[in-house]
Amino acid sequence: MKKYTAIHDIHDFSQIINEALTIKNAPFNNKHLGTNKTLVMLFFNASLRTRLSTEKAAKNLGMDVICMQINNSWNLEFEDGTVMNLTTSEHIKEAAKVIAQYADIIAVRAFPNLTDKNQDNAEIIINSFSKYANVPVVNLESSTAHPLQALADAITINEFSKASKPKVVLSWAPHPKALPQSVANSFVTVMQQLPVDFTITHPKGYELNTDITKDVVINYNQVEALKNADFVYVKNWSAYTDYGKILSQDTNWMITQDKLAKAKFMHCLPVRRNVIVEDAVLDSENSLVIEQANNRTYAAQVILKKILENLD
Ligand code: CP
Repeated sequence: MKKYTAIHDIHDFSQIINEALTIKNAPFNNKHLGTNKTLVMLFFNASLRTRLSTEKAAKNLGMDVICMQINNSWNLEFEDGTVMNLTTSEHIKEAAKVIAQYADIIAVRAFPNLTDKNQDNAEIIINSFSKYANVPVVNLESSTAHPLQALADAITINEFSKASKPKVVLSWAPHPKALPQSVANSFVTVMQQLPVDFTITHPKGYELNTDITKDVVINYNQVEALKNADFVYVKNWSAYTDYGKILSQDTNWMITQDKLAKAKFMHCLPVRRNVIVEDAVLDSENSLVIEQANNRTYAAQVILKKILENLD
């Protein structure tokens, strides 16, 4: 593997999930791969799980890790040909090449601004690192995608599925802040690769990018959509068409134990209790949120392993 900026960098999902589960059983078996190799992680936005699980994965592989919270300390310029006489102090053209002197792999988190759809869809930050740093780039959540989260989610469904073709429902839920569509986008993309019966449910107006959802079934009736579900993945996202807007705060979309019935509950975390989901669900044995967070390590580790195996 040369990079992991999008789900489509994985060519054989079944193989990668099986390899991640093998790593989970013996996480220190490939320490030689990362010896004398460095992962540099750059965070333009805060993180708990991604930051810690990716560092743990890299260290399990024997890598050194350098982490920088970049927005707090360094203002980068991404526009070509700009006169840099305002607040930005270094252009990405130099910065990416310089960081690549210290890194064998660069991993980047950079959220969308949710005000300019075209700019967010252009994925300027992660694509600029891919363009100017001559080392592999890993996406730690970008404007439109969170592929490491989605891989961890696929591993978790594989581990807990009892049916050969489980019913998986992605449900929108309310949130007081405008959130990105990235987790939902990547989850949808992964579900299209797996043997699952997949439905999305959300209020009208919350349709995701149709280039991503393609012909996935969308049911605007949440209760109907959740019937006989094996896995219910819950996530808030802001509107895509009316870009970045909060169109509904309807508390009836919160996931309750009654709605969940016997299904397993999934969420990428962090989650707002009694807004997205009621306590009874999160505190029940049907909640997989901690397992998902645990699998973030093995998702990151299988990806880093594949990239390390391909380094010159
Ligand atoms: N799920 C997830 O990406 O969590 P963090 O924002 O804490 O990294």
